[in-house]
Amino acid sequence: MTVESTPAALRLGVNIDHVATIRNARGGRHPDPLRAAHLAVAAGADGITAHLREDRRHISDRDISRLKSELTRPLNLEMAATDEMLAIALRHVPNACCLVPERREERTTEGGLDVSGAGPSLGRIVGRLREAGIRVSLFIEPDPAAIEASTRLGADIVELHTGAYCERALDDDAAGVAREAARIARAATLAAGHGLEVHAGHGLTYNTVAAVARMPEIVELNIGHFLIGEAIFGGLDAAVRRMRALMDEARQQCRADARRRQG
Ligand code: PXP
Repeated sequence: MTVESTPAALRLGVNIDHVATIRNARGGRHPDPLRAAHLAVAAGADGITAHLREDRRHISDRDISRLKSELTRPLNLEMAATDEMLAIALRHVPNACCLVPERREERTTEGGLDVSGAGPSLGRIVGRLREAGIRVSLFIEPDPAAIEASTRLGADIVELHTGAYCERALDDDAAGVAREAARIARAATLAAGHGLEVHAGHGLTYNTVAAVARMPEIVELNIGHFLIGEAIFGGLDAAVRRMRALMDEARQQCRADARRRQG
């Protein structure tokens, strides 16, 4: 799409991994990620994201089965590009799979997928998922080389990693925030120009969401840890509604920006 056309609606995918983190701290079944997913949808989420990690530290195989069979909105399954995960995805056929880098020792997904240096197995996994009718998203750094490589791999979507941008915000580094936001904006324009659908996520908060939501090519944000953290204080419903409102407000500004550019 061109910046001159009306920016598409911006979807919110709520990542419920950390509901499962809290449940797993004690074992048992409480709090239930599926209940959180239903609540998030009722509060305005357009889809639910869950990352089935190799070490199953939060979301479990049973969570994925239940989400797939009971969710009323699209499921975005985050997973490493491995044969084990491919088999699980092909069994459940989620709406989308977002392929992410995974290292056991990391606390969260650090950095984007190495799409430029990936061997043939990544392309094979992208192809198998797409043949099964699953939309494939690659979680990448907002860099031109990663976008070119994602295009060559035949991905439907790129999800731009917003971690560096959000970290600069946590450091109160205004120049760094502006630099990282500009990097994401340039990457979004480049990716959309290649015909890729553009998503973004990682580390987003009430304070950092607006600048990203204002980028016209980005059509989905996936947000988890901050929302689940806020839910402790004010409830998940209120947290999702507030994030949704901030996104919608920024999107209205984005549309006004587009109209101004068109004159
Ligand atoms: N998008 C992707 C691909 C991710 O791996 C994650 C973290 O699981 C998120 C978005 C959400 O990040 P956060 O939990 O920091 O909002």
